Amino acid sequence: MAEKLLLAGKVVAIPTETVYGLAASAYNFNAVLEIFNIKERPSFDPLIVHAYDLDRTSAFVEAIPTSALLLAKAFWPGPLTLLLPKKKVIPDLVTAGSPCVGVRVPNHVMTLDLLKRLPFPLAAPSANPFGYISPTTPQHVFAQLGNKIDYILDGGACNVGIESTIVSFEKRNPTVLRLGGIAIAALEAVVGPIEIVLQHAPNQPCMPGSLLSHYAPNKKLIMGNLSKLIPKYKAVTDRVGILSFQKQYELIPKKNQVILSPQGCLKEAAQNLFHGLRLLDGLPIDIILAAYLPSHGIGAAINDRLQRAQHDHK
Ligand code: TXA
Ligand code: MG
Repeated sequence: MAEKLLLAGKVVAIPTETVYGLAASAYNFNAVLEIFNIKERPSFDPLIVHAYDLDRTSAFVEAIPTSALLLAKAFWPGPLTLLLPKKKVIPDLVTAGSPCVGVRVPNHVMTLDLLKRLPFPLAAPSANPFGYISPTTPQHVFAQLGNKIDYILDGGACNVGIESTIVSFEKRNPTVLRLGGIAIAALEAVVGPIEIVLQHAPNQPCMPGSLLSHYAPNKKLIMGNLSKLIPKYKAVTDRVGILSFQKQYELIPKKNQVILSPQGCLKEAAQNLFHGLRLLDGLPIDIILAAYLPSHGIGAAINDRLQRAQHDHK
């Protein structure tokens, strides 16, 4: 079904290991335009293109820099997006006018099977309305976009749970523009020193995914040391939600608390992050208090998501 619809130029939600994507043929201008419309996404925000494997990227990517090749071989299929010079077959709409296209090979068996059978790669942003929390289950997609798309390919809950790490090769050293599922240390083990340039300017044309306000729930979110923050809300504890790493907090009702990983495992915390935020956003509370996680490994990417969620996008 997904294959048939995509061949007909339609938009379909697909599972990946990071988050669900809103996919269409990356070669079809009108299909890509439809993605922007469904997502209500500004056209200055480019889309990532998903390919079956490294070999097939040569159909739409020019020569690949050596360090990009090393990273692709080390981490694909996986949560790593490489910015590479595009061929003409990719419409400028996909890259928002940039000569580079974001490319990745997703690590999900159903989507790889789909990509294998299709004669084109799939352009796909996360399958959420622009600015809101990314979806990590088909139910998340259905809740917000169910009436706008014909089909959701159900691949279960996403195994990584946060978006891909994005790397550019325009500077001397490979440069990370978005923290994500592959940790910086893992990249450095393959290609040596990495620069990190997380851009924060709103409406930043070359890297809109790094808008300061992003991944945002509708509820106000404040990050900090929970033991210090919670007492400030003593008078209204039933209106407070907690997003914590491992611990439960006594003052706040249990039903208002999401614990990302009781074992203290960052991988598990990433898997539960967006679902937890959505749960809290749906509760009858006024504010979400979120803990900082340990910032090593993918903890840094989780903290980055929470910081961006902290900024009111309204
Ligand atoms: O894990 C992921 O990357 C997920 C899954 C579906 O693959 N996709 C995802 O897409 O997070 P999206 O559109 O929500 O975020 C992609 C980010 C955007 O912020 C966009 O600005 C950046 O990647 N991006 C894509 N193509 C780019 C390009 N050519 N140059 C600079 N940034 C680019
Ligand atoms: Mg997104």
